[in-house]
Amino acid sequence: MQSDLRKKLIDAFTLSGGDFLSGQRLAEIAGCSRTAVWKHMEDLRKDGFIIEAVRKKGYRILEVPEKVSGDEISLGLKTDFLGRQIHYEESVESTQKIAHRLAADGAPEGTIIVADEQTMGRGRLGRRWHSPKFSGIWLSVILRPDLPPPKAPQLTLIAAVAVVQAIEDVTGLVPQIKWPNDILIGQKKVTGILTELQAESDRINAIIIGIGMNVNQKAADFPEEIIETATSLAIEAGHDVSRAALIQSMLYRLEKLYKTYLDKGFYPIKLLWESYAISIGKKITARTLSGDFSGTALGITEDGVLMIEESDGSLRYVYSADIQL
Ligand code: BTN
Repeated sequence: MQSDLRKKLIDAFTLSGGDFLSGQRLAEIAGCSRTAVWKHMEDLRKDGFIIEAVRKKGYRILEVPEKVSGDEISLGLKTDFLGRQIHYEESVESTQKIAHRLAADGAPEGTIIVADEQTMGRGRLGRRWHSPKFSGIWLSVILRPDLPPPKAPQLTLIAAVAVVQAIEDVTGLVPQIKWPNDILIGQKKVTGILTELQAESDRINAIIIGIGMNVNQKAADFPEEIIETATSLAIEAGHDVSRAALIQSMLYRLEKLYKTYLDKGFYPIKLLWESYAISIGKKITARTLSGDFSGTALGITEDGVLMIEESDGSLRYVYSADIQL
């Protein structure tokens, strides 16, 4: 019933060729009340439609949402194995959750899970990740490296480099990495990475790299609590950016870096990571479970652990923390 009505409204806008349609006219076309029209306009907005509403003129649709289902990603994808199996859903609780299930069921290396919306997106340290419909990239990648579990953080750093390179490729913007895996533009977070493992004591069965990228959100789309600290590529670039192109580039870059890593080890990745790092050589504060401490970030170790020199010259190795710049 509701979707029939929505279809009639969308058809009416298609026929109007971009002109305004009054609430009254829409109600006549759809055979419903003006209140029902208003409610449907709100629902469309929630689904990613940008709708202009002007008094005495009515409504017009300025932008329709862009999807990132399998077809848009596969067309023109330049990878050998990454993203060759795509599991797409319009709306999910969390792509990580699906990835865990698929990985446990034997999904091959390179399988990706992508959704246009997450209703319970997971962030680091048990936080929620705001993942509104159609405006970002909510993606999980399954890798199966033949490595012991302590090497897993290196894969997070590889993913961070791949994300930075993809953003550069597609938008020309130059992001920076805040250890371990926040991607920033002008000190505001544009992408977060969450790495989770399925492992035995001595080997990784699957590593699930979840990437959340703010792409086409406008400032008003961010919830109050992150408005000061988050940004999107559209805000920074001044125009909308194709999510499919970003995903393709990210998969291409990640596959290349992953092959280099398996071939030559972590050192070449470490150099690249440090070249993009915002905090190296700077004074930072690390908020860890055992308390806060400040010092100069020196770089990362071979295992991807952050090294901080405190004011008395002693060295701290940070395995997990929130970094304040
Ligand atoms: C962070 O807290 O910085 C990490 C955020 C990771 C979010 C991504 S979105 C795709 C994947 N699915 C999730 O539920 N979380 C990750």
